[in-house]
Amino acid sequence: MSRILTGIQSSGRPHLGNILGAIKPAIELSKHPDNESFLFIADLHSLTTIKDGDQRREFTRAVAATWLAFGLDTEKNTFWRQSRVAEHTELAWHLSCFTPFPMLNNATSFKEKSDRALSGVNAGLFVYPVLQAADILLYDAEIIPVGKDQRQHIEMTRDIASAFNHQYGEEVFVLPEARIDDRLMTIPGIDGAKMSKSYNNYIDIFLPENELWKVIKKIKSDSTPLEDPKNPDTDITFQLYSLLASDAQIAEMRNLYEGGNYGYGMAKKAFYELILSQFATERERFNYYMTNNDALEAELKAGEEKARLVARRTIERAREKLGFS
Ligand code: ADP
Ligand code: TRP
Repeated sequence: MSRILTGIQSSGRPHLGNILGAIKPAIELSKHPDNESFLFIADLHSLTTIKDGDQRREFTRAVAATWLAFGLDTEKNTFWRQSRVAEHTELAWHLSCFTPFPMLNNATSFKEKSDRALSGVNAGLFVYPVLQAADILLYDAEIIPVGKDQRQHIEMTRDIASAFNHQYGEEVFVLPEARIDDRLMTIPGIDGAKMSKSYNNYIDIFLPENELWKVIKKIKSDSTPLEDPKNPDTDITFQLYSLLASDAQIAEMRNLYEGGNYGYGMAKKAFYELILSQFATERERFNYYMTNNDALEAELKAGEEKARLVARRTIERAREKLGFS
């Protein structure tokens, strides 16, 4: 039995990049009979950037509704909000006292984020990896599926856990391993750069139809005239379409591009329709959870209780070593 854990910040509504790059693969992994998954919404981490409470509530619900819409089995797995299990912040404090200052100071994600931070750099951004280490170590997680950008954070988690274990001469914490799937491609945004909420180039597949179409229409394309043949391999709409389409659909679209008399607008329409048909169930389920707060809350509450039981057992081990029990 492998214990898998991953978290997604509630710093925006999940977009196609988050869904194809993180949520769907994590759900696939969670279905394997040998795996037990701990999946949570990193709402405390989102405080490093988002200060508006109503906005966080909305994003937290949207992230939760996305996992549920894509079929996460909350009976088999554990699904909760980080902020509701206070042991995360308690353990983060313990761990911060085992974290070398230079390690945090040299973190690439801190450097990047502080360069981009518009409203000043807060200490939360600096200790972000320590809270992340607490998230992981609290659940004795073994495998952490994440994107490439998170590799360093998992390494830091291992270093912090090793320092703690070394101090007490015992394996208090399990050392986790990052699972970075190199086959997963970076999903491009509507401007061709990596799709990200920070670049405002993302596709929110849960938008109402007219708004979704407005976004799809904005996908960047070149100015090849309608009649001329087009190169599918350099076109963003074609790339995005290929992520969702079947092999036969991709081959057909390629022919249309190469044959001429097929405009980018037509390709965008086809992509838009593919999103609607392929995600019809998910869109419905997402809307159901976004409008039925009680149903969403019930799922999260049940998960929170399961998570707390595990977290309490682990933190007891730390408290005991630290002389707090
Ligand atoms: P964003 O860049 O929009 O802020 P996050 O950094 O919150 O997204 O990413 C959450 C998860 O989604 C991570 O596991 C990340 O690897 C994945 N992810 C984000 N953007 C993409 C993308 N464009 N392609 C593939 N995976 C992505
Ligand atoms: N830092 C992760 C990200 O931005 C989110 C996260 C928080 C996380 N805690 C975690 C991921 C623990 C894996 C494990 O994507």
